[in-house]
Amino acid sequence: MTAPGNTEVVARSSASNRAFDVDRIRGEFPGLHQDIKGKPLVYLDNAASSQKPQQVIDAISDFYAHDYSNIHRGVHELSERATKAYESARLKVQAFMGAASEREIVFVRGTTEGINLVADSFGRANVGEGDEVLITTMEHHSNIVPWQMLCERNGASLKVVPINDRGELEMEEFKKLLGSKTKIVAVGHVSNALGTINPIRTIIELAHAQGTPVLIDGAQAAPHVAIDVRELDCDFYTISAHKMFGPSGMGALYAKESLLEKMPPYQGGGDMILSVSFEKTTYNRLPFRFEAGTPNIAGAVGFGATIDYLNGIGMDRIAAYEEELLDYGTNALRDVPGLRIVGEASHKASVISFVLDGIHPHDIGTILDQEGIAVRTGHHCAQPVMDRFGVAATARASLALYNTREDIDRLVEGLATVREVFS
Ligand SMILES: Cc1ncc(COP(=O)(O)O)c(C=O)c1O
Repeated sequence: MTAPGNTEVVARSSASNRAFDVDRIRGEFPGLHQDIKGKPLVYLDNAASSQKPQQVIDAISDFYAHDYSNIHRGVHELSERATKAYESARLKVQAFMGAASEREIVFVRGTTEGINLVADSFGRANVGEGDEVLITTMEHHSNIVPWQMLCERNGASLKVVPINDRGELEMEEFKKLLGSKTKIVAVGHVSNALGTINPIRTIIELAHAQGTPVLIDGAQAAPHVAIDVRELDCDFYTISAHKMFGPSGMGALYAKESLLEKMPPYQGGGDMILSVSFEKTTYNRLPFRFEAGTPNIAGAVGFGATIDYLNGIGMDRIAAYEEELLDYGTNALRDVPGLRIVGEASHKASVISFVLDGIHPHDIGTILDQEGIAVRTGHHCAQPVMDRFGVAATARASLALYNTREDIDRLVEGLATVREVFS
């Protein structure tokens, strides 16, 4: 991460004085220690999904082996244990995000479901004919399409804040587009395609000055920087466990209790009700009202374990380590002949997107794979970003706490091979 705006990142860690021992950390991730195509794996696809530490794998497998049952309604021992494990994971997520109450943490399948929940439920109640939803050019498709669907359904329109050539939001345009018709602002904390860290605190302040709530898509921030939703004063913040070294199909939506209280249910079914008759159904208290059906119980247990893992290292130390690594990687890639980095914002985290003169990103990815190096190529579910920069796709190296300078060096060597093949 290069120089995150210190107003955007709230450092909160008890582990801040210990040295960052990347070798020890790497030792905790079994997935990193394998050969791919006969070469030691270099895993640089963390923005898509990250590898899992043994601690998380063990927590999930121990839970299935010893404590598994359905939650909330059982009176027997196993159900009580499973309920305790599930609800204690919620408390860990609450503390990790800095929320005031566990009632503000809704377990969801991931960031995508968190945004869909807000677009559907908050949107149904608050966004109508002639209203506007304000997003930005650099959003992931999951922070575009749910709002488009809402606008189509309710007769509202979608407004989009442009970005400059460095991949930063044009804040003057944001101010112009934010108007009395704007019923919600939805913006990514960190862009998955560019790595830009957005000035979300300023965005929240400007939106709140005229009473407009703000949703932050935190999918790419949560693995890299500390989050404090109360400090930020955002209204909604969504994260995905699988990008944070936890299980897939699991995530959390933070929502201010005062908003959640007034929002209609998202999905109907078991667990979200207090009583049901054919005449009338009454809904459960928060947050269960928004968790219909049997949830991903083991996923929550794994989510809790991944938060313990991150806290054990300290988010401020992770951010500092990655900032240095991103600088190293950015400088190293800038020296590769014919390479252009897409996204050179002054505040960035984790992501280096690039194109290489005359070589299709898919070819780059395929040749790098032959060298044991995993990067992602394509539009990264951010097609408007590709359009903005006039490319169909990029190759993307995305870093995590277990990557090293040697990984970057291997990438640079791999890119030399790519260039040789195409010379
Ligand atoms: C910025 C951003 N938002 C949302 C998502 C969607 O996350 P998920 O697939 O975990 O729901 C992603 C996933 O890549 C992302 O990078």
